[in-house]
Amino acid sequence: MYAHDPLHAPVLVKEVVEFLQPRPGGIYVDGNLGLGGHAGAILEAGGPRCRLIGFDWDEAAQQRARRNLAGFGDQVVFVRTNFAELKDELARRQIGEVDGLLLDLGLSSLHLDDSGRGFSFKGDEPLDMRMDTRQEVTAAHILATASVEELADIFYLFGEERQARPIARAIVERRIRHPLESSRELAELVERTVPRRFHPRRIHMATKVFQGLRIAVNRELDNLVRVLADGPEVLRPGGRFCVISFHSLEDRLVKRAFRDHPRLQVLTARPVVAGSSEVAANPRSRSAKLRVAEVIGE
Ligand SMILES: C[S@@+](CC[C@H](N)C(=O)[O-])C[C@H]1O[C@@H](n2cnc3c(N)ncnc32)[C@H](O)[C@@H]1O
Repeated sequence: MYAHDPLHAPVLVKEVVEFLQPRPGGIYVDGNLGLGGHAGAILEAGGPRCRLIGFDWDEAAQQRARRNLAGFGDQVVFVRTNFAELKDELARRQIGEVDGLLLDLGLSSLHLDDSGRGFSFKGDEPLDMRMDTRQEVTAAHILATASVEELADIFYLFGEERQARPIARAIVERRIRHPLESSRELAELVERTVPRRFHPRRIHMATKVFQGLRIAVNRELDNLVRVLADGPEVLRPGGRFCVISFHSLEDRLVKRAFRDHPRLQVLTARPVVAGSSEVAANPRSRSAKLRVAEVIGE
C-alpha cells in the first residue's frame, strides 16, 4: 500500500516490525521518519486502525514521506520537529502513552545523494550540513570561526579521527587566505594534509572529518541523549523502544541508556545486525545496530 522509495531502503525493517508487533488501535512514533520506509512497514503490519506519528526536522524528507505514505491518509501525523522535543510535542498534541517508539538515526540517502548541502565528500556542494535548515549554524560557519582546539575536538570526539589536530591546523591556516566553501575543497584539504601512510584503506580519508562536522552542526549526540531519557516516559508499560544506530558513539549511548534506565528491560543482549543478503543489497546496512528495550510495568 505504501510506495517504496527508490532513494532509500530502510534497514533491518523486518526485525523492527517483529519487535514492535504493530497492532490495530496502536499508536507508534517514528522519530526519524525519513522517506517513510519503516513507517510504511509498521502501518502495513498494524492494519487500518494503527496510527503513526512521524518526526523529521528535514523539510525535503518530510515532503517525500508525505508522498510515499499518502495511501495511509490520516493514520499518519507528520511532525517537522527535532525528536529531542518528543515529550513536549506529544503532550501538546494530547497524545498520552504510545505503544512503540523507533529511532533510525543519522542521514538518509536523500541527504547524501541529492540534497545540495555538502553532506558527502564525493560531491562539490556548499558546506551546509544542516538537516533542519531553520537552524542557524552551518558547517561553513564552524569551519570559519572555530579555534584549532575546537575543530580538533569535533573531528576527534565526533569523528574519532586520529589526525584531528593537523587537519584542524590546516583548516585554520587555509581560511586566513580563503574561507572553505565547498565539500570538495574540504575533502581535498584533508587528503593533502594527512600523509598517505595514514590514509585508511577501506574508507575515504575525509569520511571521519565529515562525520564529526555533521554531528556538531546538528548536535546529534545531545539530541540522542535527550530522546533516550524521555522515550521511556512516553511509552506504555509493555511498549517497546527500538533504536538503529550507525556508529559506535551512538551505539554506546543507546546501550548505556537502556541498561541504566530503571523502567527498561533490554531485549537485545547483543545488538541485532543485518544479515549478509541485506548487506549485499543495501551496503548502508553494514554498520547498522538495532537495540530494543521494553518498558516494564508499574
Ligand atoms: C536514516 S534516516 C531515516 C530513514 C527512515 N527510517 C526510512 O525508512 O526512510 C534519518 C532521518 O532522520 C532525520 N533526523 C535526524 N535527526 C533528527 C532529529 N534530531 N529530529 C528529527 N529528525 C531527525 C533526518 O532528517 C533523516 O531524514
